[in-house]
Amino acid sequence: MQRWLSRTSSLFSVRTHRRNWTQRAGGLVEAELPANPMLLLDEWLAAALQDGHIIERGFVLATSSAEEGPTARTVVCRDVCEDGSITFGTNPNSLKGRSLRDEPRCEAVFRWGTRQVRLRGTCAVDNDNTEEMFRTLPRPARVSLELLHPIGQGNDVSEAKHQELLADVEASSLDPQTPPATFTAYRITASTLEFYQSLREDFIVDRFLYVRDGAAWSPPVRLAG
Ligand SMILES: Cc1cc2nc3c(=O)[nH]c(=O)nc-3n(C[C@H](O)[C@H](O)[C@H](O)COP(=O)(O)O)c2cc1C
Repeated sequence: MQRWLSRTSSLFSVRTHRRNWTQRAGGLVEAELPANPMLLLDEWLAAALQDGHIIERGFVLATSSAEEGPTARTVVCRDVCEDGSITFGTNPNSLKGRSLRDEPRCEAVFRWGTRQVRLRGTCAVDNDNTEEMFRTLPRPARVSLELLHPIGQGNDVSEAKHQELLADVEASSLDPQTPPATFTAYRITASTLEFYQSLREDFIVDRFLYVRDGAAWSPPVRLAG
């Protein structure tokens, strides 16, 4: 018999995963869904943020490349745009930056409690947005990006060097306005968005798929959960 530390059966209660916003939320009804899925994404983000924190804007970005295969990590969603795109900021030389150069198709997965949005699309550097995105970061974040720049994300750093950096960031009076080469804005233009929520005791779920149709969206289609 396998020894286990925790088991799904001991956690598998819808109530455990319910949060205030899901208690307020009703089921999704096809006729009431917006024609533009970005409005629903923005509404779900706002609902999550009401009870939460900026980190509710985090999503898992899955990329793939011939060399590295599939990889995934969390990033913060900076903009949700009506035209069907979202933005985030990162280092263009990071693993995700390199993967996206090789294969721009990617998937962004948002999850709050028992709600999930999967946005599939194509990602590109968004140079026009980089400076403004950088300037709207809190000052300590801009300072640390500036001071970390010479080391480069993901490189080995000794504990002593790390402690030195922490002290430097704290002591710094810098107020950088120009992004270092290690910070770039990216934009994912969606081709599909899938909304999923599982709020019921019987686990019958709401799952809707929007598919881009030129500049507009096909009407959302309900999918089996
Ligand atoms: C809550 C959270 C938010 C994050 N936001 C970002 C972000 O906006 N941009 C970023 O480059 N990394 C962010 N990270 C760090 C990434 O998950 C990742 O560790 C880093 O970017 C290196 O990823 P890569 O080597 O796959 O490119 C975040 C991590 C967490 C846990």
